[in-house]
Amino acid sequence: MRRPILAGNWKMHMTIAEATDFVRSIRRGLNEVRDVDRVLCPPFTVLAAMRDLLSATEIGLGAQNMHWEEKGAFTGEVSPPMVRELAQYVILGHSERRAYFHETDEMVNRKVHAALAHDLLPIVCVGETEAQYDAGQTEQVVGAQVRGCLAGLTAGQVSGLVVAYEPVWAIGTGKAATVAGAGAVIGLTIRGTIARLYDQGTAQAVRVQYGGSVNPANIAEFMAHPDVDGALVGGASLKPDFVDLVRVAAETKR
Ligand code: PGA
Repeated sequence: MRRPILAGNWKMHMTIAEATDFVRSIRRGLNEVRDVDRVLCPPFTVLAAMRDLLSATEIGLGAQNMHWEEKGAFTGEVSPPMVRELAQYVILGHSERRAYFHETDEMVNRKVHAALAHDLLPIVCVGETEAQYDAGQTEQVVGAQVRGCLAGLTAGQVSGLVVAYEPVWAIGTGKAATVAGAGAVIGLTIRGTIARLYDQGTAQAVRVQYGGSVNPANIAEFMAHPDVDGALVGGASLKPDFVDLVRVAAETKR
């Protein structure tokens, strides 16, 4: 049985003051939801304050990005040991990083290796753009991303990963993928590629989230799909009813 994992990707939202108010309001409810991993991914500047606020809870913390080097002359970047002081998870290869900051699969792959070397659990994002979707290239694009991002990892490392399937056209648009569509990409393309690269056991062990316009009203249908192990939630993770979303997700999988 794969343990479900729900993560909130706050993106570039929330100052320390705003995040403190918000997390105080959701902390107890979120902590009470059983049998799912719950992770908040705030901006770097907010991580330390959130660590203190969440220290007595089971709610995990993640960064939204990270450099692969341990230290050096990389102005503006944050290293794996810096993230590990504050967080247990790190989102890598989000489509906004790929689109606006030119991250490639090769860079994401370096980051994944660095995260694992520093005992951080990566949430590795893959997904096709709208043009690629329209051109029927989803399987090819997502398959290549999985191969590129996981290159050089052992089966044991891959088994412990979280992969987030986030079709770019579904992110922040209110236009979520269909459950059947997302489930097929996750089951056939993502798990299928991992099964071919490694073995069935590894493909069945890796946890795969769906992301893209997930909200409290549609989370149950996604979680009902046997290949979907959770969600990476953007906009809806900034609202108090994120707690309801996580609760419904947990109940659906039980
Ligand atoms: P969204 O974002 O839930 O606002 O669509 C998801 C994501 O980018 O991780």
